Amino acid sequence: MEKMWAGRFDKALDKTADDFNSSIHFDKKMYKQDIKGSIEHATMLCKVGILTEDELGQIISGLASILNDLNNGTLAFDENAEDIHMFVEAELTKRIGDTGKKLHTARSRNDQVALDLRLYMRDETNDVISMLKELIGAILEQARENKETIMPGYTHLQRAQPITLAHHLLAYCMMLLRDITRLEDALARMNYSPLGSCALAGTTYPTNRDMVAEALGFDGVCMNSIDGVSDRDYCIELESAFATIMMHLSRFSEEIILWSSWEFKFVELDDAYTTGSSIMPQKKNPDMAELVRGKTGRVYGDLIATLTMLKGIPLAYNKDMQEDKEAIFDSVETVKKCLQVFIPMIATMKPIKENMYNASKKGFINATDLADYLTKRGVPFRTAYKIVGTIVGKCVKESITLDEVSLDEYKKHSEIFDTDLYDEISLETCVRKRISKGSTGYESVNEQIKYVEGLLK
Ligand code: ARG
Repeated sequence: MEKMWAGRFDKALDKTADDFNSSIHFDKKMYKQDIKGSIEHATMLCKVGILTEDELGQIISGLASILNDLNNGTLAFDENAEDIHMFVEAELTKRIGDTGKKLHTARSRNDQVALDLRLYMRDETNDVISMLKELIGAILEQARENKETIMPGYTHLQRAQPITLAHHLLAYCMMLLRDITRLEDALARMNYSPLGSCALAGTTYPTNRDMVAEALGFDGVCMNSIDGVSDRDYCIELESAFATIMMHLSRFSEEIILWSSWEFKFVELDDAYTTGSSIMPQKKNPDMAELVRGKTGRVYGDLIATLTMLKGIPLAYNKDMQEDKEAIFDSVETVKKCLQVFIPMIATMKPIKENMYNASKKGFINATDLADYLTKRGVPFRTAYKIVGTIVGKCVKESITLDEVSLDEYKKHSEIFDTDLYDEISLETCVRKRISKGSTGYESVNEQIKYVEGLLK
């Protein structure tokens, strides 16, 4: 096919160079946004007197028929086209003749591609936000069912203090809620239309950029045409937010992987979200969680690729920028694919409450509460800390737990100890007595659930 820009050249582009240059195999994803943008651009051209009503009618019905045929598969993308923009324009001219050639008046592919990508990523990002809300809903449901499920809370992966599974899960709700706000912030900043920036310098035609911006749901126009065609900050912001989402999913995955091991056995994943081994008949592997953890690396890579691609290019458009799309498409598609399996995996995950409880009984996770017992009865915290440390040391040697130590033995360390200490260091009391805001205490957890529910609405 002859290039639209063939006029200036004496011979055709080398075939390998042509393939290398072509982006249609990935930018065809944006065909809907490309057509939508063109319809609004043409509508504006007519309004300001550049196209006649008749020409506009032909262009709109031509573009609508292309959209329809691409949607239902009767029109195939020409993989030899340079990109989606050239393809749609060439197809339009094929269908309506010379009027099609007027569509590109007062526009360049530079502002066109900048527009299409913003529109496309706006839609995709809104999908991700919906999926994150769904995930938070699934986690919240597990939290509601596990308000009294006691488990060990860890620091350094060492048993630290008793918590409830609900409290632990709600931590992820908070992270994911922040992820949503990061995406919303980026959406608000990127919601300005670059269309009408043209190649870089604007145009001599009396265009109405605001009209197009409004029709396409933007909050305004990019105020500087050079910036309009050069800005990919929003790609960086989105990729950074996607990378953060993946980091959160990956930490959660890591816990699910640990929790499903025989060493922990805190949860049982549903058969539908686990796999077997080709050789070991007993295996039930948490592949989905492992893949989410593994795919996190590529989403980080997409962010770094875009940052690096942009860092050395002068204003305004450079072909390097064509590389923005594969990176950001990969990052958003990976996040969506991960969420698609992660949501039902969490919803169907079965906590094994007795194993969590039994693990909480070991590891002296009530030692802080035993020290607090003394402190509340007048012993300075450091002294209490030392007394309890000595008792724990003896317990370790004798392989017993704090509630198995006799009162006589306790009294040897401090006269203040009394029979009520046993209730004070029971796991239930340790949890119940956590009354500070945000803590693992039952009331606090209920408050956190309400907080998340409120934000989800
Ligand atoms: N396919 C190009 C891209 O993705 C479209 C813009 C091309 N503009 C140009 N002046 N060659 O960036």
